[in-house]
Parts: sequence; C-alpha cells; structure tokens
Amino acid sequence: MADEKNQRTPYSMLIAGRKHYVFSRPSDVSALFRKTKVLSMTPFVRMINGNLFGFQTAAIERMDTVHDEMHGLYNKYLLSPDQYIPVVISYFQDLERLMQGLKDQVESSKGQTLKVDAFDLMLDTLAKASLTAYFGKEPLQVNPSLTWDMCIFVTQGFWPLIAGIPAVLFRKVYHARERGVKAFFETVVDAPDAPHDGMSTFLREHMRLLGTVVDKNDVARNEFGFLFGLISNSTPSTYLSLVRILSIPGLVDEIRKEIQASGLTTTPTVELHNIIPSQLPLLRSCYFETIRMHTVSASIREVLEDTEVVTKPNGASSDGEAHTYTLKKGGVVNMPSSMLHFNPDVNPDPERFIPKRFVSKEQGGMGQNTATSTRGFGGGASYCPGRIFAERQIVGYLAIIISKLDIWIDNEGSWQLPKTAEFDNVSKSKHAVLGMKALQTS
Ligand code: HEM
Repeated sequence: MADEKNQRTPYSMLIAGRKHYVFSRPSDVSALFRKTKVLSMTPFVRMINGNLFGFQTAAIERMDTVHDEMHGLYNKYLLSPDQYIPVVISYFQDLERLMQGLKDQVESSKGQTLKVDAFDLMLDTLAKASLTAYFGKEPLQVNPSLTWDMCIFVTQGFWPLIAGIPAVLFRKVYHARERGVKAFFETVVDAPDAPHDGMSTFLREHMRLLGTVVDKNDVARNEFGFLFGLISNSTPSTYLSLVRILSIPGLVDEIRKEIQASGLTTTPTVELHNIIPSQLPLLRSCYFETIRMHTVSASIREVLEDTEVVTKPNGASSDGEAHTYTLKKGGVVNMPSSMLHFNPDVNPDPERFIPKRFVSKEQGGMGQNTATSTRGFGGGASYCPGRIFAERQIVGYLAIIISKLDIWIDNEGSWQLPKTAEFDNVSKSKHAVLGMKALQTS
C-alpha cells in the first residue's frame, strides 16, 4: 500500500466523465477541510440516504433542513464528557455482563476450553453492548439478531446499493434492513412506553429533532442509519486489533501486565472510564496502529463552485512550499487516509505493525502523535463525532476480554488477515477462531 503516488499528490483523473482530485499532503488536506461552504459532503450523504437506507427524496430534503441542528447535537452529546460518560458506563456494564456469560461458557465447556469465531463473537458482544448503550435493551428483545441483520445488510448490500442497484433486487439485504427499521419503530419510536430509561439522552434528542421534519417510520430508518455508524467501523476494527495483538508473540502478556498495573481489574465498572483509555498507552497505541494500517476512510467532497485553494507548508510530508490549486465546479475531492498512513515521511517503516508506535518516548515507545500521523476519522465539518466513543468502545472491549480470559488464535495458518477494516472485507475473509480458557492468576 506504500504507493509511489504518496510522493506525487495532488493529482487528478477522470472517472465516468467527472474530474476527481486526489490530495494527501496534510497541509493541503487541512486547507481543503476549511473550505466548508464550497466543498460539500452533502451530495454524498443524500446519495447514501437514498440508495443505502431507502429514504424517499422528500424525506432526504426535509432532513437536510435540520443538518446544522443535528451537528449541534453531535457536538453537545457525543463530544462532551458529561454527556458521553454515562453512555460509556452503560456500554462497559453490558460488556461486563456479556463477558461474564462468556466466562461461564468457557468454564462449562469440555476441557474448560471454548473455541469461537472471532468476528461472530464481536457481533454478539461488542455490537450488542454498543446498541444497548445507545438504544436501551428493547430493540434486541424484539429482534435478537439485529446486529446480524446489520451484518447481512452491510456485507451483501453495501456496494451494490451504493452503485444504485435497487434494494428490492437483493431480497435478503432488503429484508434484513427493513427488519432493523421495524425493530426501532416498534421499540423506541412508536412504543407507548418509550422513551425507555436505558435510552441515551443523545438518541432521545436525535429522535425528537428528526420527528419535527419526517414521519415516525423515517425516524426509525434514521436510527438504523445511526446503528450503522455505531458498529460498521468499530466491529471490524476491534476484530483486527485483537488478531493483530494475538499474532505478535508475547504482546498480549505485555498488555495484560499494563492492564494489571492500571488497577482496571479491581476498579468498579462505573469508574472504568477513568482508566480506559488514558491508563492503557500500549493497548491504545495498538488500536491506533490498527486504524493506521487498515482503515480505508476517504473523505470525499463535491466542488460546488469554481474554487481556488491556497495551502501553507507544514508537517513532515510538506515540501516546504505554499501551493495554489484551482478546483472546477462539479469535481470531486478525495482525501484518502491510507496515503497519509503509509507515507514513510510521516510514519516510518509504514508496512510494519509497531505496537508502541503511539506510546510516548518517556514510556519507551516511538512517540508518534495520533493526531498528526493518522486520519482515520476524516476531518473538518464532518469529522467523525463518534471517535471519542469509538476509542472507549474498542480499547475497552480489548481490555475487558484480555483481562478476563486467556485467549489465542486457534486456527493458525488457516485464517486470513484482511487488508482493510471495511466491514464486508473482514466479514468475508477466513476468520480467526479464538481459543479461550480461564485465566490462571499467579
Ligand atoms: C473505528 C471506528 C470509526 C471510524 C474509523 C469512523 C470513521 C468515520 C469517518 C471517516 C467519517 C466521515 C468523516 C469525513 O468524511 O470527514 C465518519 C462520520 C461519522 N461517524 Fe464515524 N467512525 C467510527 C466510529 C463511529 C461511532 C462509534 C459512531 C457513533 C457513536 C460514529 C458516528 C459517525 C457519524 C454520526 C458520522 C457522520 C458525521 C456527519 O454527518 O458529519 N462513528 N466516521
């Protein structure tokens, strides 16, 4: 993936008669992210809402009218600690419950050893605990396979639907999506006793705002869209982080020592957010190293009018000069994160998974900065508002499972390491099977 084009951006090409501009230099990307009025993500969001989630044009237009208020909710609820911490606590509580169930299963298995498909485990634990933390337990009570329906929808439907093929031609995909929408409609949107106690304040406000412009069925459809955002990147990224850790001899033991030293195992669940991720620098670094090597996020913007962009030199990969670019109306600006992630001037030895890349030098690591060396969560006006939860969701999951169980990859040699963290790519790859035993405490 370390592509010689890294050294040659920006460049442009014609795809289906449309000019696509590709940028990767951090100084260029920062300048482009600031041009929010003339470089817009909205046309792509509209296309996703129509093709992927099945909204009618009129509903898409009405949802556009609350775009700014929706971003206000993201900032208020997903990015401020007093609002996100209760959701993180609820997530850790459900995860603890599910992991205790897993531990019980291990102890009652033959030879007290359990073997499970690692990706299926994520859908049954990480994805379900995330869903419960935001929506409460009710959606999974009416549809216990909701996270599996999401898996069918993304794995078999994402690319064909994005390409514009009507969802009804993919019956399995269509029915999986509509079952998901129905579960939200019945339990959180139109239930006589909703909103339930376990539902996050964010989603109550999210539903209230949407309810001012679209009908209840479309509110439920939008909640299915939020579930997609909540688990479609995190589930494969957690899978990849775990298999990466288990593939490096001795690393899981080193991480277990770090977890032990942090006091996590004796800390009440409601206090875990004080430890995860701040007291686990090695585990956090492994998470970011996985994002760096596997995430394929590409921020895409449409050029709404002829535009001149002036960029200033900055950062390791800058050539030290200011640049002026002219972008033509109707063009598409692409800013693929992998070109930054695999640029050797920014991330030395980019093809190698280095567990301590993002651990500080004082703590024995390489001391690289995640903010300047990675861009897995996009940037600018649509900078992923779920990034704070994602870090706790993934690092927390890894910390809890590693602290409770002795785990290893049991089908060494017959599983494949997926190249990218795209859900369908990971889902369709030959999965790692985890072997699990109770942890022997010394
Ligand atoms: C490893 C996990 C994740 C990755 C890699 C990821 C990545 C991204 C990226 C690349 C974008 C688009 C940014 C742009 O084009 O500038 C985005 C947007 C978004 N993400 Fe995430 N995300 C993750 C987890 C989450 C989670 C857990 C949530 C919810 C709690 C979430 C909610 C959203 C939402 C709502 C948007 C749309 C923002 C907007 O409309 O402006 N994401 N994410």
